Amino acid sequence: MDMKELIRKTFVERFGAPEGQLFASAGRINLIGEHTDYNEGFVFPGAIDKVIMAEIRPNGSHSVRALSIDIDEYCEFGLNEEDAPSQSWARYIFGVCREIMKHGGKVEGFDTVFAGNVPLGAGLSSSAALESCFAFALNELFNAGSISKFELARIGQSTEHNYCGVNCGIMDQFASVFGKAGHLIRLDCRDLSYEYFPFSPEHHSLVLVDSRVKHELKDSPYNKRRESCERVARALGVPSLRDVSLAELNAARVTISDEDYRRAKYVVEERDRVLCVCSALGRGDYEEVGRMMYATHEGLSKDYEVSCEELDFLVDVARRTGVTGARIMGGGFGGCTINLVENSIHDRFIAEACKQFAEKYGHEPKIYDVVISDGARRVE
Ligand code: GLA
Repeated sequence: MDMKELIRKTFVERFGAPEGQLFASAGRINLIGEHTDYNEGFVFPGAIDKVIMAEIRPNGSHSVRALSIDIDEYCEFGLNEEDAPSQSWARYIFGVCREIMKHGGKVEGFDTVFAGNVPLGAGLSSSAALESCFAFALNELFNAGSISKFELARIGQSTEHNYCGVNCGIMDQFASVFGKAGHLIRLDCRDLSYEYFPFSPEHHSLVLVDSRVKHELKDSPYNKRRESCERVARALGVPSLRDVSLAELNAARVTISDEDYRRAKYVVEERDRVLCVCSALGRGDYEEVGRMMYATHEGLSKDYEVSCEELDFLVDVARRTGVTGARIMGGGFGGCTINLVENSIHDRFIAEACKQFAEKYGHEPKIYDVVISDGARRVE
């Protein structure tokens, strides 16, 4: 049974007829621009064909009744309750409702059943997909679509900040809401101006290799990285690292700790790499795109220190197999590598990555071929 049928069937079993309305939103990849979003830099993500899908029907009350098929848990909460539910998945839905109301939007009680195929903890932003799915749906159902897509992305982001303990940037929610099939999005996280770049390379594909090392950003040093960046910006008297050149950072080196220096150096270099990759893509120069991806990995591993042994190993396998570009993707501390692979070595790379990883770590990684797809939407 496909996801849509399963959700429909479960909804009617749980809440009775008639059916509600179906909505979906997507996980994301990011070609380059990691840990730059909360530094007001550039990112280059796209939505993928892995989604969270929810059926929703207003229930005429002030309560939400929600069932997660994948986690097999049920939760009820009142819209005026102050305390968020204890289940982490339900906190996202609760947070989105509360944030919409804080933004002056309307939310009434509803029943919902949802499921998804975005791998959890793989760095593909399953949480942003969940937030965006509900933010988009509640905007359609109770606000006649009057909340802008920018605000919907912000609502998802502030849900993370206020209910989930992750002080994230805007990239994931933006990609999930604004995603467009066949296009990456170059987003300027300072003013949220953005541009769609067609992305359907003739001779390359994007492959994700999921180490299945799980990470939880809330308990990981993600927030600490952000604090380092903000400390350096303050020391240099600028609003964010967006405004700092490498020369300025080097000149101020003695005034900041060595660790903070390395964090900031990575961010400043990464900010510039995104623009470099965008123009290389425009020229069809995939070799340059790949070089930048490896450079990002180096920075994330050595200077920003958000990689781990398993992911460094996977990037090494990619390099040795002749993959054009590879790096850890997302917040870090586990999850996936993203690989720009020439079609002629696609199968060999996957076979090598699976074999060598299993020999060393005792389990095979999971492989996903990326399809760049639409973001938040109503499902017909
Ligand atoms: C997580 C966060 C994003 C971004 C990335 C790193 O996915 O949610 O805001 O900071 O990490 O680029």
